[in-house]
Amino acid sequence: MSLLFFKRVIANPIRVGYLVPSSGFLTRQTAKRIDFSKPRVVIELGPGEGCHTRQIVRRMNAESKLILIELDDHFAAHLEKQFAHDKRVTVVHTDALHLASTLEGMGISNPDYIVSGIPFTIMDRQLREKLLATIARSMGPDSIFITYQVSLQISEHKLFDLSRSEHCLFNVPPLTVMELKKSAAALMA
Ligand SMILES: C[S@@+](CC[C@H](N)C(=O)[O-])C[C@H]1O[C@@H](n2cnc3c(N)ncnc32)[C@H](O)[C@@H]1O
Repeated sequence: MSLLFFKRVIANPIRVGYLVPSSGFLTRQTAKRIDFSKPRVVIELGPGEGCHTRQIVRRMNAESKLILIELDDHFAAHLEKQFAHDKRVTVVHTDALHLASTLEGMGISNPDYIVSGIPFTIMDRQLREKLLATIARSMGPDSIFITYQVSLQISEHKLFDLSRSEHCLFNVPPLTVMELKKSAAALMA
């Protein structure tokens, strides 16, 4: 296990959420959901030390862009160093609560994918609702929101419609990878 991850869990257990980074099984299961047959704009929320990021980067084509949004200053500094050589990757050290304004400032609308590792299920309800609202606000009708969680709670949220879900037992803890679209109600709001 990464020592950095362990230190950041100790420093902020609720925000980091799980005791160890995602397994190779989970990161492959998540990254394979992104179709890189054409250039894509992918946003990753809560990349941590970058285990999903590395899988995504490995599959990305030269014209695609990956924006990493990480709140923890140690993780953000680690990501900047790790991906400094890759012009397709941009690290933004900010709260995902500012997602809509961050993307607007970067001239990005309707990203193709938003992949999130933020542990929505175990956080305070009000914060979860605010985060989900800004994610939905940043999505267009074709954007796909991919998240891996301990429960299926988000699949029943009014802002999203579940397209697909798949369990990953080979992870600590076992999680479900969900693929969601913005709901018709959220698109009309
Ligand atoms: C469960 S860890 C996942 C880390 C990594 N994606 C993985 O799968 O191992 C949650 C990550 O979300 C980040 N995070 C939590 N709340 C956040 C927020 N509001 N904005 C941005 N990042 C956040 C944490 O700092 C941490 O890196």
